Amino acid sequence: MVGELKGKRVLVTGASSGIGAAIARELAGAGCTVGLCARRTALLDAVLADCLELAPDSMAWTVDLADLGGVDAFAERAERELGGIDILVNNAGMVRTTRLPGVDWALVEELNRTNYLAPVRLTLALLPAMLARGAGQILTISSVGARLAPPAESAYAASKAALSAFFESAASDLWFSGVTFHLMYPGLITVSDEPFDADHARLHVGMQGLPATAVAAAVRAQLEDGSFEVYIPAEFGPMWVKRAGDVGANVAFTAEWARRQFGSGASG
Ligand SMILES: NC(=O)c1ccc[n+]([C@@H]2O[C@H](COP(=O)([O-])OP(=O)(O)OC[C@H]3O[C@@H](n4cnc5c(N)ncnc54)[C@H](OP(=O)(O)O)[C@@H]3O)[C@@H](O)[C@H]2O)c1
Repeated sequence: MVGELKGKRVLVTGASSGIGAAIARELAGAGCTVGLCARRTALLDAVLADCLELAPDSMAWTVDLADLGGVDAFAERAERELGGIDILVNNAGMVRTTRLPGVDWALVEELNRTNYLAPVRLTLALLPAMLARGAGQILTISSVGARLAPPAESAYAASKAALSAFFESAASDLWFSGVTFHLMYPGLITVSDEPFDADHARLHVGMQGLPATAVAAAVRAQLEDGSFEVYIPAEFGPMWVKRAGDVGANVAFTAEWARRQFGSGASG
């Protein structure tokens, strides 16, 4: 149930770097046994080494979650080897810009497989055991992109908007089941010295990102207090409410802003 984290078994996806690595360390520090997964084994092992100092039964698996056909078998293995999963943190994802008109279809598909379909499939695979126990927490890392649909992020924002819609609806289906759902909406988070790509860097000129540890601390607090959705920084919540009041005006305003950010390369 919501509240005490000590002794909980947590699966954190995308724990080899950035926000996921910070969440794994944070939850190991809170007394959880953490299961980590991602594709880059060497990075994963380094994060696992930190977690083992705090949570000696923690473990890690190398897996490509975007290979959707393998997700059910991975879920079964993680559940068996961890001895059950009390909390799933759906964090694995990719941040990419897709500025029209030059959008690569293969990238649109990859973004949706990684950011939307994979966490949904993993959740569906792990839910039956949680429902049978009548307890569990599923926390999903969405993005303020899902709410604000920023320029040059159409495919990324859509993958995260789909994720949010899925879990909002799922939460009402299972509201009385004992399994609780939580959505975390980070803004700009600095996870590396390298920008995600050139357009992403240009879009965020002059902006200061928060460290991944700030998201990790917010995730821990959200799991403890059980809140359904959290924005970090918090001011993104009211920004979304304002945008929803007049989406057309917001799109027009954002287009002007993007034209300045991209300079003469901007379309329109
Ligand atoms: N940074 C931001 O500004 C920001 C803002 C809002 C939301 N977010 C979200 O936060 C989450 C974490 O991103 P991050 O910023 O921490 O970036 P990151 O450092 O690139 O972390 C992404 C993590 O996901 C894993 N991953 C990606 N594709 C995977 C796959 N196919 N199978 C398994 N693992 C996979 C990566 O591991 P491997 O490469 O080793 O597989 C890595 O551990 C993402 O969902 C992202 O959309 C980020």
